[in-house]
Amino acid sequence: MGQLKPGSVAKSEGKLGVMCVGLGAVASTFIAGVELSRKGLAKPYGSLTQLATIRLGKRTEERAPLIRDFVPLASLEDLVFAAWDPVPDDAYRSCLHCGVFDKHEHVEPIRPFLEAIKPLPAVFDQTYVKRLEGKNVKTGKNKRDLAEQLRADIRDFKAKSGASRLVIVWCASTEIFIVPGAAHETLASFEKAMEANDPSIAPSMLYAWAALMEGIPFANGAPNLTCDIGAITELAASKKVAIGGKDFKTGQTMIKTVLAPMFKARMLGVAGWYSTNILGNRDGEVLDDPESFKTKEESKLGVLEFILQPKLYPELYGKLFHKVRINYYPPRGDNKEGWDNIDIFGWCGYPMQIKVDFLCRDSILAAPLVLDLALFFDLAHRAGMSGVQEWLSFYFKSPQAIPGVYPEHDLFIQQTKLKNTLRWMMGEPVITHLGQDYPTD
Ligand SMILES: NC(=O)c1ccc[n+]([C@@H]2O[C@H](COP(=O)([O-])OP(=O)(O)OC[C@H]3O[C@@H](n4cnc5c(N)ncnc54)[C@H](O)[C@@H]3O)[C@@H](O)[C@H]2O)c1
Repeated sequence: MGQLKPGSVAKSEGKLGVMCVGLGAVASTFIAGVELSRKGLAKPYGSLTQLATIRLGKRTEERAPLIRDFVPLASLEDLVFAAWDPVPDDAYRSCLHCGVFDKHEHVEPIRPFLEAIKPLPAVFDQTYVKRLEGKNVKTGKNKRDLAEQLRADIRDFKAKSGASRLVIVWCASTEIFIVPGAAHETLASFEKAMEANDPSIAPSMLYAWAALMEGIPFANGAPNLTCDIGAITELAASKKVAIGGKDFKTGQTMIKTVLAPMFKARMLGVAGWYSTNILGNRDGEVLDDPESFKTKEESKLGVLEFILQPKLYPELYGKLFHKVRINYYPPRGDNKEGWDNIDIFGWCGYPMQIKVDFLCRDSILAAPLVLDLALFFDLAHRAGMSGVQEWLSFYFKSPQAIPGVYPEHDLFIQQTKLKNTLRWMMGEPVITHLGQDYPTD
């Protein structure tokens, strides 16, 4: 991934501009939550960059600084925001529409700040998100022209906001399922396809291309193909920019990637895993379209295969029946309910069941991930790390891996990798938990 000399990370100086693609539930909850935290009106729970510590050295040393005191991250005060969205609502209207925050306690006190964040016209095409209609949309002679307009937006925001650096996080809708094809293979074929208005080039890919052309890191919070194609990884390498994705790991999949490693660690078999959700926000509505759901389904289904390794353990996991459903159910709004029924078996094949009922809040879980990704991608950029940032797999349901290796899904292996990468970046020894030289390991 990188070309880093450990311990040589440039300081965070000046403002960091965070550009969100999409100003819906996740993005508006993220932006409002940062401002509420800055004003002391709420706490940034769920964010490692704000709350987590990191152990350094031997256990006997008792050194455990906050991550944000250990690595040179941008502070919340340094953040400035922009967004694109085909829906013209500013961040205040979006917060009210999405209904995640209490209007009187958390939206009205920061109303002028939120009203000032007005979405830039989006590169949007209903072919790729069937259930949305966009009015705040760019027009252009072809896809390349549209992507060039995004580049102009990026430069303009940087100049107007006075930000010294930018990061872009895709917080927009899930697009229809796209299979990687010839147009995605190389940068040359991709650019030709943009000019020819090739249907296999989705809007999300145009944002990724524009970001990288401007030297801006790009993180993909949806399951869209976007930067998981040869053309974009090639561009990231040549421009020396960090990329990563895909699909924020928040509710049901976060739980899945904690439970599945436990079954495997104890050599317990899994016969079936049935996961269903009810969700009533705009994301739920978009995912009600079978073509967008297919993209999400692929992202959610991959997890168990990689963790349980049925090829290595055919008796335990070879016949696993895995089903994932998402049902659009408007009365619940952003408050998703995720049920899991897991049929496991143990000693001598005796069956057991586990039921999980997670009454979660989708955007409350996702917002701190956007914050951490923005700050860590900016850190990676300053550390000179480019290409796929596998160490940030912790945040993704379907982590993008470098060619030739499988992605790591286990939440706690991902966390160890993230923290060891931070130690390595700062020239501290990585922690192996070997413990043979106890008590000083
Ligand atoms: N816990 C979570 O909330 C969670 C977890 C994993 C992934 N995600 C993904 O994050 C994304 C955002 O979720 P959300 O709940 O905020 O959805 P949302 O529907 O509230 O917001 C998405 C916004 O993106 C906009 N949009 C669509 N296409 C666009 C384009 N081409 N350019 C710019 N804007 C565009 C839409 O108009 C909408 O306002 C979705 O793809 C969702 O699947 C969310």
